[in-house]
Amino acid sequence: MRIDLHCHLLWGLDDGADNLEETLSLCESAAQNGIRVIAATPHYANYAKTDDFLYARNRRIAQLNTLLKTRGLPVHVCGGAEVFLHNGIFEANDLSPLTLNRSRYLLCEYALQPFDPSIALPLAEEVFDRGLVPIIAHPERYATFHQHPSLIADLADMGALFQVTADSVAGRLGKKVQRLAVELLTDGTADLLATDAHHPEIRGNALDAFIADFPPEVTPELVTYATQTAPQAVLENKPPDAFRHGPWAF
Ligand SMILES: [Fe+2]
Repeated sequence: MRIDLHCHLLWGLDDGADNLEETLSLCESAAQNGIRVIAATPHYANYAKTDDFLYARNRRIAQLNTLLKTRGLPVHVCGGAEVFLHNGIFEANDLSPLTLNRSRYLLCEYALQPFDPSIALPLAEEVFDRGLVPIIAHPERYATFHQHPSLIADLADMGALFQVTADSVAGRLGKKVQRLAVELLTDGTADLLATDAHHPEIRGNALDAFIADFPPEVTPELVTYATQTAPQAVLENKPPDAFRHGPWAF
């Protein structure tokens, strides 16, 4: 049973699915690819509007799960968010309702464009200070991480987890991105592999097609760990030492 912890399948909330038809198409594709649980992770950046965000997200999740049951699709959707880390976080209210399946794990993203590297660690530290553990989404895609690779090691030392994206590992975003994604996955830095799907045709969630293009060092056992074992531990809110890195400071 695969779990996709990063997916923009909810309609009309961000740059993901535009309508319910696209949402259902993503759910059908998930089912065909062995994905049984999807965390809905719409982009979240306006820290002052948490209640509005959660209301809109939760209504859609409830509606969608009812619809999936009616249609007999073996997919369940749970709550999450892709939280954009910026200075507003220091003034933010409680972040815990934004975590993946109400666990301690918060999916976080930095800007894809180059940003001031000195802000990366304090922003993550703020997440820890609130009793949560950041999961850094697609570290392989940040220009700043390519320029300052020690940031990844520093975040790992702090106890952050990392999620690489299937299309990166498959080489769809270029050699440089693929190299870093594969390195992080194989050296034990990244525990999680997700689709970050936005639309059925553009950045979809046909996981088997991506996996077919993975380089051989990303073994089937590693794929099973990163798409099943590790995300299951997140959903069950297992402590950070449940992951590959051994004891984590938490
Ligand atoms: Fe995303």
